[in-house]
Amino acid sequence: EKGGFEHFMLKEIYEQPRSVRDCMRGRIYPIEGMVRLGGIKDYAEKLKNAERIVIIACGTSWHAGLVGEYLIEEFARVSVEVEYASEFRYRNPIISEKDIVIAISQSGETADTIAAIELAKERGATIFGICNVVGSSIPRLTHAGVYTHAGPEIGVASTKAFTGQVTVLTLMALYIAQLKGTINNAKLVNLLTELDEIPALIERCFKEDKKIALIAEKFKDSPNCLFLGRGSGFPVALEGALKLKEISYIHAEGYPAAEMKHGPIALIDADMPVVFIATKNSSYEKVISNIQEVKARKGKVIAIVTEGDKIVKDMVDYVIEIPESNEAFLPLLATIPLQLLSYHIAVLRGCNVDQPRNLAKSVTVE
Ligand code: M6R
Repeated sequence: EKGGFEHFMLKEIYEQPRSVRDCMRGRIYPIEGMVRLGGIKDYAEKLKNAERIVIIACGTSWHAGLVGEYLIEEFARVSVEVEYASEFRYRNPIISEKDIVIAISQSGETADTIAAIELAKERGATIFGICNVVGSSIPRLTHAGVYTHAGPEIGVASTKAFTGQVTVLTLMALYIAQLKGTINNAKLVNLLTELDEIPALIERCFKEDKKIALIAEKFKDSPNCLFLGRGSGFPVALEGALKLKEISYIHAEGYPAAEMKHGPIALIDADMPVVFIATKNSSYEKVISNIQEVKARKGKVIAIVTEGDKIVKDMVDYVIEIPESNEAFLPLLATIPLQLLSYHIAVLRGCNVDQPRNLAKSVTVE
């Protein structure tokens, strides 16, 4: 049942080229430059006119929501707010019939997310779901939705469901952009052609697995770890930190790299591992100066870089390469080595990776 893998988590990490492909199947038409989302097409008019989108979710799904915020704002030029469902539900949120709420949940059973949906529904919002478990509670409570089609996720630490959620949010961002005309057809053709390549590029990320296992050896006894990224690399950093916490019980924090100087830099010394998302994109130069700040304080740096990068390689202790792609799709690639890093560290520490202590696959309590 684990398909020859030692753990479900590892199997699910390796399933991602296929699960992301399944998620895009029948939804993207690169040659025509078209996205089709049958699940929400009846709400096209509403989406086109939306002035605001509110995303609600918990845990890893909330991180996917943050990636969605970057993508939707960038491509569809609509303002997006991302809220923890567990906070949203206990506030008196400003929500009306004009709003679109997107609830993200792998299990479709998270109690806080369900309660937040019910609240937004009472206030007249249109609610979309992004869920993995077909027929679960959330798809039944929402007006419409898009399934991630990642297949059953057994490991308590979410992996392929996250990349599925990010894929759906990418499709939604491009779909809204197409409806609103905020990106032209030629650009859509290019983006969808590149998106179509992502499953193959995820596969290529696995080339680094052995090297990642060796890096894991070096850091397995660290009590702490920082994850830093900018732009959509920031939610990737948050997700990297959550994975490490959940399965290895190492204290880890994700931060926007630019915020480091406002506090966390005080933590840096020769014993602090810092994982940077340092790929070649619009924030590359800025990230490089953040890396210099860490190295000047003798921090140990592991950098996720674009294949062939020499500049960062010369500055840091370890590099893990990912293939080059459009910046918009960075989270789908940069997440993969972080999943593997936390997996190997947890295994080396003798942790129960598939069923970490104190955690359940779906949190049906408040
Ligand atoms: O099923 P959901 O996506 O609603 O679950 C939300 C969180 O409980 C979940 O993502 C949790 O953080 C995972 N253990 C992450 O690996």
